[in-house]
Amino acid sequence: MTDQGTWHDAAALSALSEGEPYGIEIGHHHIALYRVGNEYYATSNICTHAEALLSDGMLDGCEIECPLHMGRFDIRTGEALSSPVEIDIQTYPVRAAGDRLEVCLPA
Ligand code: FES
Repeated sequence: MTDQGTWHDAAALSALSEGEPYGIEIGHHHIALYRVGNEYYATSNICTHAEALLSDGMLDGCEIECPLHMGRFDIRTGEALSSPVEIDIQTYPVRAAGDRLEVCLPA
């Protein structure tokens, strides 16, 4: 438990491949995990435009492109970068714990 939320086990680090978004569910949270080099990121997996799964999209550097209408978000900040998306996505803190990745979700 932190001021921001609670840490949850999310995935094996070995399950996360460079450039391949990985979708998981923790409780009612739909989360997309990403690996860029040796850095890991987590965002909501639901596009803010029309609810497509971002884990089905294409990761280009630190930008995820939605598979439905090609809107883009910055996975580091959640910022909506290109039309038709206008609303940012939620991002979540992550940390490595041994060979696992943990994500901090709101309580
Ligand atoms: Fe993602 Fe439309 S559903 S851009």
